[in-house]
Parts: sequence; C-alpha cells; structure tokens
Amino acid sequence: MKKVLELKTGETIIIRHLTKSDVDDVWYNFNEVIEEGIYLPVFLPVKSQIEKDTWYLNVKKENEICIIAEHPGLNAPYKVIGQCEISNMEWDAASHVGVLGIIIRKKYRDIFVGRSLIDFAIRESKKLNNKEKIILSSFSTNERALHLFKKLGFTVVGIRKKQFLLDSKYIDEVMMELWIDDYFNENF
Ligand SMILES: CC(C)(COP(=O)(O)OP(=O)(O)OC[C@H]1O[C@@H](n2cnc3c(N)ncnc32)[C@H](O)[C@@H]1OP(=O)(O)O)[C@@H](O)C(=O)NCCC(=O)NCCS
Repeated sequence: MKKVLELKTGETIIIRHLTKSDVDDVWYNFNEVIEEGIYLPVFLPVKSQIEKDTWYLNVKKENEICIIAEHPGLNAPYKVIGQCEISNMEWDAASHVGVLGIIIRKKYRDIFVGRSLIDFAIRESKKLNNKEKIILSSFSTNERALHLFKKLGFTVVGIRKKQFLLDSKYIDEVMMELWIDDYFNENF
C-alpha cells in the first residue's frame, strides 16, 4: 500500500513501505540527526554497510513496519526525506506492542510529513502485525516531538529523570503510549 501526499510547499511525496534501495537514504537521515546531536541518545554515525544491510534484513525478517516518505524529484541518498519504524518488542508476551521511532530530514520538518508517516505506520502496524499499542520515548527537551505525539493522542506514562547525559547536561526521558483503538476512534 502507498499514499501520495501533497506538501504545503507544493512538492508531492510518496509514503510507502521500505525497500532495499532505500537503505542508504534511511541511514543518511539517521546520521544527519546524530550529527545534530540533540534528538537521539547516540553519539556516533553508522558508516558500516554491513550494519546498514543487517538492519534492513532484520526489519524484513521480523516483519517490522518501516514507512518512508520518498521525494520522487530527488536522487539517492536524498530521495527518502523521512522514515518511521514500528519495531517489535523482544518479549513474546508483548507481541501486541510496537515501538515507534521517527526521523524527518531537517529541511522537511514542520510541514506535516511526520504526522503523515506516523498515521500511515500506525494503520499498517494494526493491519499487518495486529499491534494494539504503540510506545515510544523522547528527550524532555524535544518540544516539537512531544507536541506532535501529544497531538496524535499519545499520553505520558512515565519520566525517567536524568536518563541521558549529553554535552555535560542531564536530560529526562519521557515515555509515552497510544492505544490504536483510541487513535482510530479519534481519527477515522
Ligand atoms: C519530531 C519530528 C519527527 C516531527 O516531524 P515533523 O514532520 O517535523 O512534524 P509535523 O510537521 O507533522 O508536526 C510538527 C508539529 O510540532 C509543532 N512544533 C514545531 N516546533 C515546535 C516547538 N519548538 N515546540 C512545540 N511545537 C512545535 C508544529 O507547529 C507542528 O504542530 P501543529 O500541527 O500543531 O502546528 C521531526 O521534526 C524530526 O525528525 N525531528 C528530529 C528527530 C526527532 O526528534 N525524532 C524524534 C525522536 S523521539
């Protein structure tokens, strides 16, 4: 399944499932966010092709949801302007729970790409993987992400105080969750 979305910039993007040819683009975006240094608790970019390819094989092997936003006017590694993954919990007894991660390329933030990717990913995770609940966590300093997650219906279920130490400053981790049936009730 895929969806065509017109951005308010006038550009058209395609929202669809990840394919092998997207792998370098997805990691390009990840590494760009790591270099920004304020959104994710990872210090080093991923350069190894084996690591990138292993991640892709694992997504496919585990039937995880990875939705990307493709800009058809751009070439690799810039054609994927954002990605949203809903991965599985490692516990057998938590197979109804998905763990959401999302990155939008800097230039394309604040024009609803994130909201559209999350919406698509949640629907696919229910349809294909029978997920019932989506969980995530964010830095307490990430105001845009927290605003978007709350707007979509995620609620805060806990805060881990001073969970991360970045540039000699402690940051709290905000843990959130969303029941998909509640989301459907609000967004159909
Ligand atoms: C967080 C992120 C995924 C959101 O995606 P996006 O495409 O930029 O988000 P959208 O355009 O769909 O929505 C952004 C919302 O945040 C609002 N916003 C922007 N900056 C804000 C700020 N500093 N404080 C509060 N709200 C803010 C926007 O106005 C918009 O809300 P609205 O629809 O009510 O006007 C994206 O910005 C991103 O990838 N950031 C860097 C990586 C990251 O933080 N990943 C998530 C880690 S948990």
